[in-house]
Amino acid sequence: MTAMGETTTPPLAAAERAAALREELRRHEHLYYVKDAPEISDAAYDTLMNELKRLEAEHPELLTADSPTQRVGGKPAEGFKKVRHSRPMLSLDNAYSADELADWDRRVRELAGLLPVEYVAELKMDGLSIALRYEATGNGGARLQSGVTRGDGQTGEDVTSNIRTIRSVPLMIGAGALKRAGLPQAFEVRGEAVMPEAAFERLNEEREQEGLPAAVNPRNAAAGTLRTLEPGIVARRRLDFYAYFLLVEGEYWPQGQEATLDALSALGFRVNGQRRVVRTVEEMTAFIDAAEAGRDALGYEIDGVVLKVDSHLTQQRLGYTGRAPRWAIAYKFTAKSGVTQVNGITVQVGRTGKLTPVAELTPVFIGGTTVSRATLHNADFIERLGLRLGDFVRVERGGDVIPKVVEVVEDAGHARGSEQFVFPVECPECHSAVVRAEGEVDFRCANAACPAKLRESLLHFGRRDVMNIEGLGEAVVQQLLDRGLVADVAGLYALTEAQLTGLERFAEKSARALLGEIEGSKRAGLARVLMGLGIRFVGVRTAELLAEEFGSIDALKAATAEELERVEEVGPRISQAILEYFAQPENLALIESLRAAGVDMTAERKVRTSQLAGLTFVLTGTLPTLTREEAKRRIEDAGGKTAGSVSKKTSYVVAGEDAGSKLDKALELKVPVVDEAGLLALLEGGA
Ligand code: IVH
Repeated sequence: MTAMGETTTPPLAAAERAAALREELRRHEHLYYVKDAPEISDAAYDTLMNELKRLEAEHPELLTADSPTQRVGGKPAEGFKKVRHSRPMLSLDNAYSADELADWDRRVRELAGLLPVEYVAELKMDGLSIALRYEATGNGGARLQSGVTRGDGQTGEDVTSNIRTIRSVPLMIGAGALKRAGLPQAFEVRGEAVMPEAAFERLNEEREQEGLPAAVNPRNAAAGTLRTLEPGIVARRRLDFYAYFLLVEGEYWPQGQEATLDALSALGFRVNGQRRVVRTVEEMTAFIDAAEAGRDALGYEIDGVVLKVDSHLTQQRLGYTGRAPRWAIAYKFTAKSGVTQVNGITVQVGRTGKLTPVAELTPVFIGGTTVSRATLHNADFIERLGLRLGDFVRVERGGDVIPKVVEVVEDAGHARGSEQFVFPVECPECHSAVVRAEGEVDFRCANAACPAKLRESLLHFGRRDVMNIEGLGEAVVQQLLDRGLVADVAGLYALTEAQLTGLERFAEKSARALLGEIEGSKRAGLARVLMGLGIRFVGVRTAELLAEEFGSIDALKAATAEELERVEEVGPRISQAILEYFAQPENLALIESLRAAGVDMTAERKVRTSQLAGLTFVLTGTLPTLTREEAKRRIEDAGGKTAGSVSKKTSYVVAGEDAGSKLDKALELKVPVVDEAGLLALLEGGA
C-alpha cells in the first residue's frame, strides 16, 4: 500500500511479472498471427495486455522498446507488404442500448441542422475489414489490383493473392457495368471478409483430426486464413466478402449509403441483403430485434447492427472524432459469454488416448443454451489461467462449437477458489499410467487396450463424415462394450440381430436398422475407411487425397515416404504417421479383419490424364464457374501447360468475361480461342 492508499506492485515482483507477461503475450501473438492457432480469446489477451500496460505505467523504468505494448496493431506474418490506406480505415463507436442509440440520434440531428437524417441499418458481420483497390484495364473495365487488411487503420498488409481466392470478390469489372454505375475505372471497395460457419466447423474438424488445437472463432480463423502464405489453403477455406463502402479518390461515394450498396451490388459484389432505411429509434430497435432473432440462421456470425447516416452531405457535415465517424454507430449484441463457477474438473479420454480436462460448471445460460461443461484444453492451459477449483470463470460459446473457459474472473463480486487442481497421473478410465511425449502439450493414456480409446474409436468410426453409421451413438456403444460384443471397429460387422435385440431399448426394428447402416458402411470407400482407422494427422482432406492417389489400402500400405509425400499436402510429419501406422501388427490385423468383413477399401484413382499433353494455354478474363487457379490446376492435371502471355506457340487462349488484350493478341496471331465450356470439352477429351 502506498501513502495514497492505492495498491501498487513492489518493484522486484513487478519486474518479474512484466517479463513473464511479455513472454506470454509474444507467445500468444505468435500463435494468433503466425500460427493461426490462438489459444485464448481476444478478451483474455486484452486482460494480459492491460496488466502489462498498468505495470509499465506504474514502473516506467521497466518499459522496454520491444515490449508488446509498444507495437501498433499486429505483427505481420513474414512476407506481406505494408500498404498505406488511401484514407484511414476507422472503427466505430459502440452502443449497447436503445437509450444510447437515442442519444446518438439526438446528437446526429443537432449537428445535421437542416440536412436530411435517415439511416441505413446493416448487419455487423463478425469478420475483418478489407480494402480492395480496382484499377483501369485497357478495355474500359477495372481489375482487382490489391486487397489490404485494416492493420492499424493507417497501414495494412497486402494480402492480394489470398483475397483473389475469395469467390465473392470480383477480379474484373466490365466497362459496361462501370458506366452504368457512373464509376471511373479506378476506385476502392471496402467490406468485411468472413468465414461462414460451415467452413469454420469443417476447418475445426480437420484440425482435430490432424491433432491441432481448434480455432477459437470464425473471425480469428478468417484473420488467420488471410495471413496464410499459401493461397491454396485460403481458397479451400471458402471465405466470403460482403462489400459496404465505395470510395473514389479517397472519398466516399457521393450518392449516399443506400445508393452505395445498390451500386456495389450492380457491380457484382456481394452485398448483405438484410438492411433497411430507418428514421427513428423505434425503427432501429425493430431492425435490431429482428436481426438478433434471425442470427443463428444466417450461416455466418454477426455481432450487432451498424447504423449509418444515409446522406453523404450529412455525413460530411457530421465528420469524425479521432477514431470513428460521427455519422455511424455499431449496436453490439450482448456477447455470447457468461460468468459461472467451476465446481470440478473431470478428465476425458479421447480416441487416441489424449486426456482433455473439462470444467464442470454451475449451469449458465449463454446465447440460447444452458452450458454446464466447458473445455480446458490441456494441463498447461489450466496452469496459465491459474485456475483453482471454485473460481469464477468466463465461458465463451460460438455457433456449435464446444464451450470453452477463457479466463478467470477476479473482482470484488467473485471470490477466488482455493483448491489447486492436480492433473491425474493415471488414466481416469483404466488407471494405467499417463505419459506426455517430448514437446507435446497433451498427456495420453499409455494403455493400448484402454476401454475409453475403444469406445471413442467406435464413436468416431460411426460419425457422419466417417463411416456414417446412423444409430451408433454413445448409449449403444457403451452397451456393446459392457457386453463384450465388440473388441474393435471390425467387430461391428459381426454383430447379429439377436445380439442387438438383447440390448436395452432395442426392438427388432431398431436392431435391423442399425445392422442395415453397418452393412451400408461397407461401401463407404477408402477415404472414409482411412478416416475411420484414425491415423494421426490424417483428416478428411488428406484421406481423400491419399485415396485418390493410391486407389487401395494395399497400395497405400506399400507406399514409401517419398511416394506419400508426392501427394499434395502430405509432408514428412504425415508420411511418418502413416508409415508408423502400417508398421504396427495390430493395425494390419485390423485392416485384414475389415477386409474379411467385406469392407471396400478401394477408391477410384484420380488418373492424371495426358489429353492436353504438349498444349499450352493462356487464360484471360473471368470464367463463369472456374476460378483462375482451378482452371490452371485442371489444365496441368491433364498434362497441359499454362503461360502468362500469348505467342505463336500458344495452343489455345481461354477467354472469359472482360477478356483483355490477350484476346486481341490471340485474334491477331490466329491462336484458337475457347470459352470455359470449350476448355471443359478439351479436358474431357472432346477435342
Ligand atoms: S462500417 C468507418 N459496416 O465492424 C466505418 N463495419 O466495429 C467502419 N463491420 O472495422 C466500418 N459489418 O470490420 C461497417 N456493415 C458494416 C460492418 C462493419 C462489420 C466491422 C468492420 C469494422 C468494425 C467496427
